[in-house]
This record gives sequence, C-alpha cells and structure tokens, in this order.
Amino acid sequence: MSDNKKPTVTTSQGYPIPNPFETQRIGNHGPLLLQDFNLIDSLAHFDRERIPERVVHAKGSGAFGNFIVTDDISDVCSSAFLNEIGKKTKALVRFSTVGGEMGSADAARDPRGFAIKLYTEEGNLDWVYNNTPVFFIRDPIKFPHFIHTQKRNPQTHLKDPNMFWDYILQNQEAIHQFMILFSDRGTPASYRHMNGYSGHTYKWSNDKGEWHYVQVHLISDQGIKTLNNEEAVKMSGENPDHAQEDLFNAIATGDAPSWTCYIQTMTEEQAKALPFSVFDLTKVWPHKDFPLRRFGKLTLNQNPENYFAEIEQAAFSPSHTVPYQEASADPVLQSRLFSYPDTQRHRLGTNYAQIPVNCPYAKTFNPIIRDGAMTVNGNYGSCPNYLSSIENPVEYKEAKGFNYQANQEVYHGPAQPFHWKVEGDIDYVQASELYKVLGRQPGQQKALAHNIAGHVSGAIPKIQQGVINLFAKVSPQLSDDIREEILKINPKQGQCPYSHQKL
Ligand code: HEM
Repeated sequence: MSDNKKPTVTTSQGYPIPNPFETQRIGNHGPLLLQDFNLIDSLAHFDRERIPERVVHAKGSGAFGNFIVTDDISDVCSSAFLNEIGKKTKALVRFSTVGGEMGSADAARDPRGFAIKLYTEEGNLDWVYNNTPVFFIRDPIKFPHFIHTQKRNPQTHLKDPNMFWDYILQNQEAIHQFMILFSDRGTPASYRHMNGYSGHTYKWSNDKGEWHYVQVHLISDQGIKTLNNEEAVKMSGENPDHAQEDLFNAIATGDAPSWTCYIQTMTEEQAKALPFSVFDLTKVWPHKDFPLRRFGKLTLNQNPENYFAEIEQAAFSPSHTVPYQEASADPVLQSRLFSYPDTQRHRLGTNYAQIPVNCPYAKTFNPIIRDGAMTVNGNYGSCPNYLSSIENPVEYKEAKGFNYQANQEVYHGPAQPFHWKVEGDIDYVQASELYKVLGRQPGQQKALAHNIAGHVSGAIPKIQQGVINLFAKVSPQLSDDIREEILKINPKQGQCPYSHQKL
C-alpha cells in the first residue's frame, strides 16, 4: 500500500509496477521482450484461470450460515456438534442443477443439489444431498450411463430425448425419481423454496454403541414454490441465473433463508421387515411408520465475498464425516465415498483439501501427511514425519477401547457379481402412491402428463410408445393423459421433427 492507502499494483512477486498498462518493446514498432515479467506473469495467470467444471452439478450458487441444534437427539447420535441445544456450527451450502453446464439455466427441469459443509469441532461434515428424497439408480455403475443420457449426444452435441427416455425404458427402477422430476417439483421456483433430503440411508450411533439407520430431511421454512413448465421455459430464456439472483439478493437484504432439520430413524430389526431394501435409494421411508423428528435449523445469512474461492472451489464429499455418523452399505453411497475426492483431486488440484474453504476449523494433525503438492501449507514444520515416541508423542486408542459400536452389522460371503434384482412390481408401488398424492393438489396429475409429453414428444415413436406403456404401470389414467398430450403437440404422432435419428 502507498502512503495515501491506495494499493499499488505489483507483479505476483511484489515488484511495484508504475504503469500496469505498459509493456516492454524494441523501438516504436518492434517485438516485445521476454524479460517483461509483468506481461508474462499476467498472461500466464490469465491463461490458467479456468478449471474443469464439475462433471455433474456444474451450475450452482452458494452461501454461508450456521446450523443450530434445536432438540436433543443424543439417544441417536453423539457427534459433538449435536451435544447441546443451542450449539451453533458454521455452515457452507451450495445449491446446483445437475445435468447442465456451468452457464446453463437455473430453471432447468432437473433435480437440485443441496450440499452442506458443517465446520464442526470434530472436523468437516459434508451432507451432500439433493432436493428429492429418492434417486434414479441403486446400482452405482449405472451412474455414468445415466448421466451420459442427460448430457449431449456425442455426435449432434445436442440434448437428446431419445437417449434420455431410452435410459428409463431399460432401467425402470428410475420411475419414482422420474415422477418427481416431471412433476412441477422438477422446476423449483428458487433454491430457497425447496427441501433437502439425504436420500441415502446413513448410520448414526450413540456413545453407548447403539446405532440406527437414519435419513435426514431439511424442510424449507420459506415453503415450497415451483414453476410450471411454461414458466420455467420462459424463465430459462429471460433470466438463466434467476436462482442465483434470488439467493444472493435475499441474503444481501437480510431475508436469511432457513430449513428445519429432521431425522427419520429405523432399527436393524425394522429394516429387515421392510418390503424393500433399506439400501434401495429409489424408495422413501413411509412417514407414518418412521415419523420425522426435529433436531436443528440451518440458516444462510452470509453471501460469499468471492464466488470462485468460496463456492466454485468448495469440495463436498459424503466421505467427509465426523465420529458417530457413517455411511451405510448402500452401494451407491459406498461408490460416492470414492468418487468425490477423486474428482476433486482432478478438478481442483491435489491440494484441494488445503484450499481455505475446504480447511477444517478443527485442528488437524497427522504427521505422515507430508511433502508433495498435496501439502502446500506449513507441512508440519520440524515435527517428526512418523508417529514418534521421542518428539511430539501422540495419543491413540485401539478400536475396542474407543467408542466403537460393538453390535455392528456382520457381512460375510464370497466376492461375487452384484446387479440389483427386485421381485414383482415393487418399483411401481411408491410411484403409484406419489401419483395419488399429486391428485390432492388441483391440476398436478395433468401437469405431470403435460410435462412428460412436452419432453418425450421430441423422441422417435418407438420411444414415445415405450414411455406411454411404461407410465401405464403407474396409472392407466396417466398413460392416457400422456398420449393425449403428445397428440396435441405432435398431431401426426410418429413424426419426430427434433430427432436426428431416422424413423
Ligand atoms: C454413484 C452415484 C454418484 C456418483 C458417482 C456421483 C458423483 C458426483 C461427482 C463426481 C460430483 C462432482 C463433485 C465435484 O466436482 O466436486 C458430484 C456432485 C454432486 N453430487 Fe453426486 N454422484 C452420485 C450420486 C449422487 C446422489 C445420490 C446425490 C444426492 C443424494 C448426489 C448429490 C450431489 C451433489 C449435491 C453434488 C454437488 C456438490 C457441490 O455442490 O459441489 N450425487 N457427484
């Protein structure tokens, strides 16, 4: 800083530059000089500004706030940040759409990501959730197949309704999530007006060694607001960043959005009696059997100072957890434990965990995490680079002396191929119930048919017919309505003006 407190421009190495617009050249018309460090330094930084966008959830918005404990759930979970009513933990939340690129419209029909980082005293806890209580898959290896069908056709580079609907025709466990996606819940009015759900089953435990299966629900205190299909299409054109604008302005004007946090809990015995697997991510737990139990409030009251540093560089992962909260054996969740840190080492660089927004507020100490590009901060100074008994001896406990659950699930058997199979029509049961629930809100069943037809009418007739047949298994009425809506859009059903494929 100069004397009058206006900053002086410098190179990245601190050399004060009298005129930042100057370059060095030979004579009046000659070439530039390699010795011009300021020019080379500036261009080198500019050339490296872009990092890969997230492979999914690329378009997003985020803010800081806090999580406050409102109710005692110490019988279910002994994590330290939950151990006192009123206890406050700093939080970061990033909302997102899933399939579109970084510049795509916030109003797209898509699930919304709802990723939360809680900077607890026992380290960072990430709840990497969506706004839908279920998901498209339960076999994790289907994730890249599914996501590719939501992205661009490799030849036309267009979104492709044939690919999109071909997926569900082959993978009918996705029907429940497709029902939510094509209801008006698939186009939330803003990030403030939607709920968040763990979707997966997690395992939470207490310090007596007892554990429960748990699902988390974050219910919007702003209420639910959605756009209908036409409003969403209009919004996408007029203001592709409407949800970013809504969130930023609400927080900037002091209208801090909040969510009330609940758990559903289930014992191992109850899980065995379910008509579906507790690890099946395409199913919800009926509220009448597993009622919601309140435990906290999440509030967002601080916008980021710098979007790139604090939101784009945020690295969330279901594997970032705290004592007494762990992943269940849900195979999709198990796969996610690997996928997030792996993509972040690629997307953000190997030292992603030391980027300030990702650093735990809790003290970290692990003397073998040393050297290399993953440790650019401090590197533990002169501390021995192993568990030393001479200098800085550390305390550690064997697992049985630790508060570890004694009565864990027990797994045994050979390594074997696994592809999820279910009996009968179980995948349609909750989808059909959801259709009935939509019937309680005027116009919502028709809206579902309208929204499906609007999308599938761009596909080839074989796919259109397949979709009509598929939804008949949810409800014959829904199937008839979809057919009728397709005929309204495309009176000569069979022509597919938007598809590049031959009929
Ligand atoms: C096998 C299944 C899945 C895989 C392989 C997977 C993979 C990924 C990857 C690679 C990212 C980008 C992360 C980054 O670049 O930082 C991501 C983001 C995300 N995923 Fe998943 N995902 C899966 C399923 C799910 C499910 C079931 C949910 C919700 C219940 C979910 C919620 C999210 C959210 C919210 C984000 C955005 C995080 C952020 O805002 O940075 N994903 N996923």
